[in-house]
Amino acid sequence: AHPLRVLGIETSCDETAVAIVDADRRILADRVLSQTGVHAPYGGIVPEIAARAHLDHLDGLIRDALAEAGIGLDGIDAVAATGGPGLIGGVMVGVMAAKGMALARGLPFLAVNHLEGHALTARLSHGLEFPYLLLLVSGGHTQLLVVEGVGRYTRLGTTIDDAAGEAFDKTAKLLGLPYPGGPAIERAARDGDPRRFALPRPMIGRPGCDFSFSGLKTAVRHALADLPAPLSARDVADMAASFQATVAAVMADRCRRAIALFRDRHPTGGALVVAGGVAANTALRASLERLATDADLPFVAPPHRLCTDNGAMIAWAGIERFRLGQQDGLDFAPRPRWPL
Ligand code: KG4
Ligand code: ZN
Repeated sequence: AHPLRVLGIETSCDETAVAIVDADRRILADRVLSQTGVHAPYGGIVPEIAARAHLDHLDGLIRDALAEAGIGLDGIDAVAATGGPGLIGGVMVGVMAAKGMALARGLPFLAVNHLEGHALTARLSHGLEFPYLLLLVSGGHTQLLVVEGVGRYTRLGTTIDDAAGEAFDKTAKLLGLPYPGGPAIERAARDGDPRRFALPRPMIGRPGCDFSFSGLKTAVRHALADLPAPLSARDVADMAASFQATVAAVMADRCRRAIALFRDRHPTGGALVVAGGVAANTALRASLERLATDADLPFVAPPHRLCTDNGAMIAWAGIERFRLGQQDGLDFAPRPRWPL
């Protein structure tokens, strides 16, 4: 008998992803097809195009994943798919495929909350124990959560306007950098001077753990308007570095407050975990790691591949829920909005 094996499908945004994971935390297959090339000409994700691309590629990825794991569908114990939140057309494609397999093979079906996938990833990558403090920063979400257990999340803070990844993407656009903006800004910032532009640091010093990024984006736009056109490579590098350093400082300030609240609930133990696409950012990781070390908390960041959208996190969240006896009915309806 093998440990529980779950096939996970992720189609809520612009990655079509399929993975097979087992309860011993082994990733038996992990396929991610990024659609960035398809959306790049539009400077952002076009939902209708995304849904069609998921439909075109999902079957092939499922076949590839089974081949990579060296098993057939008869070697799978349950099927999990992102059930939301996300772009509804894409979510429907993934949920329908999972339901189809579940129905044809008599397998349990799990509709996974995409945010729960990100939230539990550190348990797949590091075998981390509950509880922990999670900074979830992606293209669609910015949240500080206390993760007490599977399905037990307390939100300490969220963004009052743009998501962190959205701020990277919009600032990249202002700088004439390609989509997705996060990696492009990180690359440009490497040669830049983070002190050249003094940008406002939204929310720093304010009580609570909420974020705000839209003022920062506006400040970037105004600062750029004062520069002679066209922007030089130096201007772009310096602004990218200044923006990135400001975001890292804001996040460190919010996390410092969150750590204090976490410590009130859990005087010992715990960890600071960062997840979501923006967690791939090296400067941000470094600043959070310093903060955690100062607070005597271990710092845990899943590998980049598991930080951006992937099927393994969905399969893993499926495993976590299934071994607690949970599953979903085939009447599950995809949820464009689904708070944790
Ligand atoms: O988690 P994710 O793959 O998809 C969502 O669920 O949204 O996150 C994508 C976001 C994009 O906004 C992208 O610009 C950002 O993550 N991102 C980064 C980096 N890599 C991806 N932001 C900053 N630095 C990076 N290296
Ligand atoms: Zn995500």
